[in-house]
Amino acid sequence: MIQYVIALLALPLFIQAQQVNVTLFTESQCPFCTRLLRDQVWPLHANRQGVVNFQIIPFGKGNCEYTADRKLQCTCMHGQTECDLNRLQNCAISYFPKRHLGLVVCIQGLANLQEAFQRCLSRLSPRTQQRLMECATTQTGETLNYYSMVNTHRAGIRIWPTAYVNGRFFDRSYPLETEVCRHTGWC
Ligand SMILES: *[C@@H]1O[C@H](CO)[C@@H](O)[C@H](O)[C@H]1NC(C)=O
Repeated sequence: MIQYVIALLALPLFIQAQQVNVTLFTESQCPFCTRLLRDQVWPLHANRQGVVNFQIIPFGKGNCEYTADRKLQCTCMHGQTECDLNRLQNCAISYFPKRHLGLVVCIQGLANLQEAFQRCLSRLSPRTQQRLMECATTQTGETLNYYSMVNTHRAGIRIWPTAYVNGRFFDRSYPLETEVCRHTGWC
């Protein structure tokens, strides 16, 4: 009996006092993705430090295939500049597993790689800038785009952005913050 009461008391606390996982499927030049990242994701990250564990998967509608000379080549809904920026976002995620959100949000919605370089990478060390740009313009980045494509296809995503909160589809009819705060006692 006493164990039962303890379990009843402990369970809600255990469920609530934890990080919330938010998975976002995006593409770098879709306007709704840009709005979601700038207007909701970044403020949520900034105002509620550590509450959300964001996983961003930049790819969108597109495909990757091997060319005749065995190179990966991807196509993206908004053309090759979108693939370029998706690559840079995927490179940032890969190089900074814990601290990439600012970079990914900054790169989102920009016109091209050059603008992203000027606006988003200027505060990084020259070495890091060089590594990120090299990744974004080579097969390294294209391979990361391919992995994001596989994730996107596997999840059966058809519209962008699509968000999942703790593995459950989030329907966007109310703010993401409200949904996040339903899942944790940290708000
Ligand atoms: C969140 O993700 C982590 C690691 O990916 C996992 O261990 C944890 O169980 C997830 N939490 C919830 C509430 O789904």
